[in-house]
Amino acid sequence: MDILKSPFMSDMTRISREIYAKGWGEANGGNISLRITPGEMHAYLHCLTSGPTVELSKAVPELAGDYFLVTGTGVFFRNVAEYPHESLGIVKVNEDGASYTVVWGYASGGRPTSELPTHLPAHATRKRVTNGESRVVLHTHATNLIALSFVLPLDTKIVSRELWEMMSECVVLFPEGLGVMKWMMPGSEEIGQETAKMLEKHALVLWAHHGIFGAGKSMDQAFGLIETADKAAEMLLKVMAAGGKKQAIAAEELKALASTFGLTPMAGVLD
Ligand code: 13P
Ligand code: ZN
Repeated sequence: MDILKSPFMSDMTRISREIYAKGWGEANGGNISLRITPGEMHAYLHCLTSGPTVELSKAVPELAGDYFLVTGTGVFFRNVAEYPHESLGIVKVNEDGASYTVVWGYASGGRPTSELPTHLPAHATRKRVTNGESRVVLHTHATNLIALSFVLPLDTKIVSRELWEMMSECVVLFPEGLGVMKWMMPGSEEIGQETAKMLEKHALVLWAHHGIFGAGKSMDQAFGLIETADKAAEMLLKVMAAGGKKQAIAAEELKALASTFGLTPMAGVLD
C-alpha cells in the first residue's frame, strides 16, 4: 500500500488546497497536524523509517506512542498536494512522551512546523476532553477573524456572542464559544500552553492579530468550524462598515436555537 494514497494523506492535501483557495495560507502561513490511529497506520507501517529523534521542551505523556501527520515548517499550503513527501512528515511521540521521532517525510531535510509546541499540547487536551475523538488541529490565518481581533475587545464572551448573532449555525457548531487570546510570540512554549488551556473549553481559539486554531475529530470538522466562524466574522465586519447593527438574533432566540439541538451555550454569554 502506498502511503501517499492513504486516506489521511488525501485529507491533508485536499484541505491544504482549500485553505490556499480561501486566501488563508499566504506563503508558509498556517499548519496542520492529524493524529493517525494505530488502525489507520497498520497498513502503512512498512513505509516508515527511523529518522531523527527530537526532545520536546514540554513532555506530552498523553500522546505517548501516537503518530501525527504534520505540515513542515516553511511549507506553502499551495504546494502540499504537489509535493507531499517534501511538505509533510509523520512523527511518532515516543513512549515516555518526552521526544518524537520522524518516521516519514520531510524529504528535502525539513522538519515539523514551528507551531509544534502548540499542536502537541493542543492534541493532548482535545484528546482528553473528547474521550479520544478529536484528531485534527488546524492553524490558519483566517482573514476575517484576524481583522476582527483589531476591532473587538479581546474577550471570549464578547467575541463569541458577536459571532453567534451573525448566523444561526454559529451557536450550533460552537456552543462552547470561541476562546480569545491576546497576541503572544508565535512558536513559543507559552503560547502553546495557553492555547492548550483554552482548548479545554473551546474547539476554536483565536490568536489576536495572527490566526485561528480549530480542533475536530476530522479534517472537515476542524475546517468547517473555522470556515463558519470566519464567515460570521466577515459578515460582522461588513455590518460594522455599513454603520452597525440595527437588529440581530436575540439572546432568547439563540438560547432556543441551542436548546432545539440539545446544546448548552457557554455560560455568561447570553445573560
Ligand atoms: P510554520 O511555517 O513553521 O508552520 O509557521 C507558519 C505559521 O503560521 C506560524 O504561526
Ligand atoms: Zn500562524
